Amino acid sequence: MKIHDRFFINGQWSSPATTRVHEIRNPATDEVCATVPLANEADCVHAIESARAAFPAWSVTSASERGDFINQAADELMKRADDLADAITQTMGCPRHICPNLQVLGSIQAFRAYADRAKTMEQSEQRKGVQILKEPVGVCTLITPWNYPLSILIGKAAPALAAGCTMIAKPAEQTPLQDFIVAEVFEKIGLPNGVFNLLTGIGPEVGPVLCGHSEIDMVSFTGSTRAGVQITESAAPTIKRVCLELGGKSPLVITEDADIDAAVRYGVQNVMMNTGQTCSALTRMLVAESRYEEAISLAKHVAEQNIVGDPLDPKTTMGPLSSASQKSTVVDYIRKGIAEGARLVTGGAEMPEGLTHGAYLPPTIFADVNNQMSIAQEEIFGPVLCMIPFRDENHGIELANETVYGLSSAVFAKDQDSALALARRIKAGQCFVQGANFTTDAPFGGYKRSGNGREWGEEGITEFIEIKAVLGQ
Ligand code: NAI
Ligand code: MG
Repeated sequence: MKIHDRFFINGQWSSPATTRVHEIRNPATDEVCATVPLANEADCVHAIESARAAFPAWSVTSASERGDFINQAADELMKRADDLADAITQTMGCPRHICPNLQVLGSIQAFRAYADRAKTMEQSEQRKGVQILKEPVGVCTLITPWNYPLSILIGKAAPALAAGCTMIAKPAEQTPLQDFIVAEVFEKIGLPNGVFNLLTGIGPEVGPVLCGHSEIDMVSFTGSTRAGVQITESAAPTIKRVCLELGGKSPLVITEDADIDAAVRYGVQNVMMNTGQTCSALTRMLVAESRYEEAISLAKHVAEQNIVGDPLDPKTTMGPLSSASQKSTVVDYIRKGIAEGARLVTGGAEMPEGLTHGAYLPPTIFADVNNQMSIAQEEIFGPVLCMIPFRDENHGIELANETVYGLSSAVFAKDQDSALALARRIKAGQCFVQGANFTTDAPFGGYKRSGNGREWGEEGITEFIEIKAVLGQ
């Protein structure tokens, strides 16, 4: 049982203004595994003032100084990799043997990449009579969710640090523990006081202050569309920059002449990864109708190879949902899918065999889904795949784009060129062709209601930059 009773503000472990605490439950056991303090308005203002006070000095450090801090922090995070994985497994249920690769090590590597990208801040462009300078946007609020809690924090904090911004991190209620480890690392390497501040709190309570205060310049948020709207409203009166990474209902298009076996395996594994809690998950599998029944039996086979159970068992491939409440959301969708007339191919709303408690659900596949059903339109955020047939490629692309979201997508076709031609027609921020893997070198972000920013890659730092034009030379 981990008890945290301080926030990290202005380089100090600082006592909260009230004694309210939040209990964190392990979703595999439903037992309380940690407590954290809950911030009130005074705590938020304290953190904001500390980040504001640190900004003038931090914003004019050299890129190489900031790069050194980033590299040192990455070294220290590597030393804490086991602690980070333990924290994530305990609070959101990712199988412990999968957690280092899925949640921790790649994120630390990605953090390190921003040491080099800091140099972009010192590159000015000379146009005719105009010099274009880059400056950090200022004090940033970073609000993160519980599905990839470390990776998403790093995706915001790394470019913010590289650009010369100062920040306040507010993790999800369910998964704050890795943020405390990150704060310990920044303390250990002697990051200047106030550059990184951490507090824990209930989103709708602290959100209006952290996203509305006049001393905040930018909010970077990953999470639900509902919270994204509230955050944007809080930030609007003071015209803050708001960078949102929201939900998705991403399509995988499989053409008649694709390698169906490889395509279906890729698609099912993609959805079931992290128990279906990935914003870019390819949750709609669109298959040429001549291959549809074949794809369904392949998908059933691949899904049923998963071993659902205890995250501490090395045989487990799928842990619980990240909380009891997330499980109940997903159960509701599975019931709705059945009621809407979709064909349940495997899985369902019952506890998987052999398990008696914990937020578990089996890998679930629906066939005979049409794009009007709510299970085809709304983000479920659980291990649920919808399979939809299409008549020809134009119809496939039409279905792919018939969604309010546009975060990710994928195509399997006869060859690379045919896949690329289809990729160009899908309205989404990413498209994975012929089985490509995720990389933090690629910009990531959404079209439409999936968001309005880009994280990772070179583009990730752009969000944290103000452009200044100096005229008259
Ligand atoms: P949420 O959006 O409420 O939580 C994410 C973060 O936002 C947390 O840190 C929370 O404290 C904060 N938050 C919530 N309301 C806020 C407000 N008014 N102002 C400022 N911060 C606020 O997500 P929730 O309720 O945990 O999950 C609901 C659904 O959201 C999921 O079923 C899934 O569909 C989607 N989601 C999407 C994620 C993504 O990666 N894009 C991640 C997590 C959830
Ligand atoms: Mg919520």
